[in-house]
Amino acid sequence: MADMGGSISKILFTEEQIKNRIKEIGMQITEDYKGENLTVIGILKGAFIFAADLVRQIKLPVTVDFIAVSSYGSATQSSGEVKIIKDLDISVKDKNLLLVEDIVDTGLTLKYLLENLKSRGPAGIKTCVLLDKPQARKVEVPINYKGFTIDNVFVVGYGLDYDQKFRNLPYIACLKKEVVGKSRE
Ligand code: PRP
Repeated sequence: MADMGGSISKILFTEEQIKNRIKEIGMQITEDYKGENLTVIGILKGAFIFAADLVRQIKLPVTVDFIAVSSYGSATQSSGEVKIIKDLDISVKDKNLLLVEDIVDTGLTLKYLLENLKSRGPAGIKTCVLLDKPQARKVEVPINYKGFTIDNVFVVGYGLDYDQKFRNLPYIACLKKEVVGKSRE
């Protein structure tokens, strides 16, 4: 087991559950974008695994790009200030964009990126989020495709980290309290 020496307290979504849900979302996106151009933008780092699996379930020609952002904050809490560390390589003017995010917590990252990308003149922007944590929301953001809704718990795995670790877990899980420490819940 790749759970890093017994740090996991509970598996929320198994590899199988994630795979099945992504298949469904991919089918829906394939249906919705039939005959149109589609540019998938993965938000690094967290969405790198989700984006990789999702695009393989979209049965259309897609353009893929990544944008890397970082929020200035502690290891487990977003401060709301977002900085673009690596911008897109391509122009998104007149393109149909699908922003792919691993998790929406406060909503601040997605809100910032939606505004930033809208200013570049795309044909449209939709969002695809694997995990929605509505209880943590500070600003409303549109979620067009959603994997799962979760409670206000700190999760790792499948791209999501704690202190840059656990991203490689194939499932989504909660960490034991003693691992996360007192800064969280
Ligand atoms: C996480 C996650 C989202 C963001 C969500 O990224 O990947 O981008 O936080 O939080 P919010 O809704 O409160 O803005 P993080 O800043 O941890 O960077 P990472 O993707 O590199 O792990």
